[in-house]
Amino acid sequence: MKIKFDTKVIHAAIKPDSDTGSIVTPMHQTATYVMEKVGKDKGYDYTRSANPTREIMEDHLAALDNGKYGIAFASGMAAIDSCLKLLKSGNHVICSDDVYGGTYRLFDQLLVNYDLHFSFVDTSFPDKVENAITPETKIIWVETPTNPLLKITDLNAISKIAKKNNLLFAVDSTFSTPVFLKPLDFGVDLVMHSTTKYITGHSQLIGGILITNRKDLANKLKFVQKTIGAIPSPFDCWLTLLGVKTLDVRMKKHEENAIKVAEFLNSHPKITSLTYPGLSSHPMYHVAKEQMSGFSGMISFELKGGMAAGKKFLNSVKLALLAESLGSVETMVLHPASMTHGDVPKEFRLSHGFSDGLVRISVGIENVDDIINDFKQALDKV
Ligand SMILES: Cc1ncc(COP(=O)(O)O)c(C=O)c1O
Repeated sequence: MKIKFDTKVIHAAIKPDSDTGSIVTPMHQTATYVMEKVGKDKGYDYTRSANPTREIMEDHLAALDNGKYGIAFASGMAAIDSCLKLLKSGNHVICSDDVYGGTYRLFDQLLVNYDLHFSFVDTSFPDKVENAITPETKIIWVETPTNPLLKITDLNAISKIAKKNNLLFAVDSTFSTPVFLKPLDFGVDLVMHSTTKYITGHSQLIGGILITNRKDLANKLKFVQKTIGAIPSPFDCWLTLLGVKTLDVRMKKHEENAIKVAEFLNSHPKITSLTYPGLSSHPMYHVAKEQMSGFSGMISFELKGGMAAGKKFLNSVKLALLAESLGSVETMVLHPASMTHGDVPKEFRLSHGFSDGLVRISVGIENVDDIINDFKQALDKV
């Protein structure tokens, strides 16, 4: 039976347990499995290689992104690092110039030590991507929308470039979620999510996943997964399966609230610039509207008075939480320059339009009047 996305998010790979009828997927909290005899097991030999709870979670999240294979990791960063383990020394990666600070740190401060090379380019401009290709380029790594400037990349355009040049095209889709964007439908090879964020939705765990339709790629990534072992615990997989069931309703509420919050902030006299991909003022609104079915709950803005004003606002919120994450049911605010992106060099940030005063909001699913009233009273103090 063909089912719609909001049904799929509850049922895709989550079936009642065939042994007991348990509606909630059993948690197989085990390191290892007894063998019937040498060379014969029941399909599982050691949890680093495979675990039944993890497999259901991997299949479920893959299905939501219209993918065939999911490979789960202990964090979003472990997923990204494991993907980069496909490379050999000397290889080159083209990466969006505005990415999560941890991704930048991994590429720019760690993987460079292994003779891997990175070009950070504004992937909103396909010609800049094309111009950055070298004979050693192997991967195009894109975030859309980006963290924290919410830039949008045209996936069809970059997909064509990747195919023409035989490059792996990977998209960190953490901010969009499969509710609003399914990168594989645009010819992307690999989707990555930090499941810490919207996918699980309640700040209850750290996790990551890679999703693909390519069997060759899935086999290589499963090999990396079992060889390095940066795997999620069965408990975290079990929590993910509980959390994800409400993804569709949560995302719609995040977006409904975010539009109202963005409109309120955008018209506030103390705010000098605001970015939200769902506002027609966003420079890539037309692309966002075409490739996404919604715009999520992330907003970034700058205040008159720069960094001092931004900090005053952040220290004055009462309902919103000043915290280093996003995508949870609670509204969260943060100061990217000193928090999530503290390891991105200042000169790099400033030259890419990422100021010291930038404020990022992850709009939660509380009553929107309460969120707006909180921001109103915090702005009054600025
Ligand atoms: C867009 C994006 N990708 C990747 C990550 C890393 O994920 P994790 O914190 O689960 O390792 C984050 C974390 O904030 C993120 O925002």
